[in-house]
Amino acid sequence: MAKIIVMYPTDCSKETVDWKQIQGQHITDVVRNILVLGSGGREHALAWKLAQSTGAKVYVAPGNAGTAEVGVNVNIKVGDFEKIAEFCLEKEISLVVVGPEQPLVDGIVDYFKADEKLRDICIIGPDSRGAQLEGSKAFAKVFMEKNGIPTARCLTVNKDRLNEGIAFLRSLKAPYVLKADGLAAGKGVLIIDSLEEAERELGNMLEGKFGAASATVVIEEFLKGIEVSVFVLTDGEHYVLLPEAKDYKRIGDGDTGLNTGGMGAVSPVPFCTEDFLQKVEKRIVEPTLKGLKEAQIDYKGFIFLGLMNCGGDPYVIEYNVRMGDPETEAVMTRIEGDFADMLYACAVGCLDKVHYAKSEKTAVTVMLVSGGYPEAYEKGKVMTGMDQVNHGVAFHAGTSFNAEGQVVTSGGRVIAVTAQGDSIEEARNIAYAEVKKITFDGENHRSDIGLDLMKLTGEC
Ligand code: AMP
Ligand code: GLY
Repeated sequence: MAKIIVMYPTDCSKETVDWKQIQGQHITDVVRNILVLGSGGREHALAWKLAQSTGAKVYVAPGNAGTAEVGVNVNIKVGDFEKIAEFCLEKEISLVVVGPEQPLVDGIVDYFKADEKLRDICIIGPDSRGAQLEGSKAFAKVFMEKNGIPTARCLTVNKDRLNEGIAFLRSLKAPYVLKADGLAAGKGVLIIDSLEEAERELGNMLEGKFGAASATVVIEEFLKGIEVSVFVLTDGEHYVLLPEAKDYKRIGDGDTGLNTGGMGAVSPVPFCTEDFLQKVEKRIVEPTLKGLKEAQIDYKGFIFLGLMNCGGDPYVIEYNVRMGDPETEAVMTRIEGDFADMLYACAVGCLDKVHYAKSEKTAVTVMLVSGGYPEAYEKGKVMTGMDQVNHGVAFHAGTSFNAEGQVVTSGGRVIAVTAQGDSIEEARNIAYAEVKKITFDGENHRSDIGLDLMKLTGEC
């Protein structure tokens, strides 16, 4: 039975409350200690949203210069489960939100559930078996095939089956999609036009191009369409569809140049009509949850569906077991109500009891990156102008403080500026006006976030 420790601010008395007794009620007059794990724009957006919840005291480990504005940064790495556990007990943390996938794949939820002192802490994310949906592309493909979930045709091979892999490649039409089975820091997918090169790269991957992650490779049919990120929050039994978003992956305007972690986002996505989202629920979300239950995977957390809209029908490109980045920086601004209530309810299995609504506004996020990114770039550039952003939010992605206490760049993706409007055009105009206020040496961003969607909807 899940319990949360609450502290009443009137007399600072503490009480352990059984969540089941107060499920569905909005809690007032309490302090809820929340720990967000991670250090990117996604974690700043999660912490920013959670800090607005009643009684929330937010800690972020390790955090960045932006999370320090909405919570307290704690110098602990996301992989250091022992220190995280110690900190949770010391600060009476009642909710842990795991931002990135690696600690989930490495079993942070299993670690908490196996310890009787930690077991009752609400933790958002699947255990290591559930995290295989993202941690192993081969697992995800078998899961989808077993549960009749629409996805690209594929063959999974290892070194011993190179010849079968080549034969399968030859049966497909260009372009060819090769995916490292394991986590490869977002770099493990190759899309190749020539058959010859695809055959060569298949060999290279199986020989360790992406280390152990590509000892197994999923060869996939190429899906033609428009991509969209759909986010589900589930307690294993019930679910809510969070706002969807479109991510812009390439470094250059017009979707040109190298792939990045994401250069911007728009939410909602005009082609995600009611009809399309209903198909997503019926054909993908519901069979996914049913499949997880059948596999006896107790999944309490986010499921991020990377989808391809192929002529109005959704296909799964990938599952992720976390929120997307930079999509979260757009999505969090559109969630209405108390997000902490939603996450506590998720962790204890009463997600059906909480109030959830999304704003009708459009959010546009523009990512400011370091010069040279996604290839080599310099860090430590002093940043200015963030305090001038007053018609939107500047979510920090890769920032830290230097010895003088100035905010400096510390990553490729540096800061994500989000603004809202009644249309994509309005949100874009506001966001780009805010972007101009932030400066640092080498700053670069895309100037066309949302333009393609405006063209699709006739906005321009
Ligand atoms: P991932 O690293 O799994 O996010 O994949 C990177 C990108 O490759 C995706 O966002 C898609 O743009 C693209 N991709 C992956 N699989 C396919 C596919 N079967 N057909 C077309 N594009 C794909
Ligand atoms: N924006 C894509 C991702 O977070 O994987």
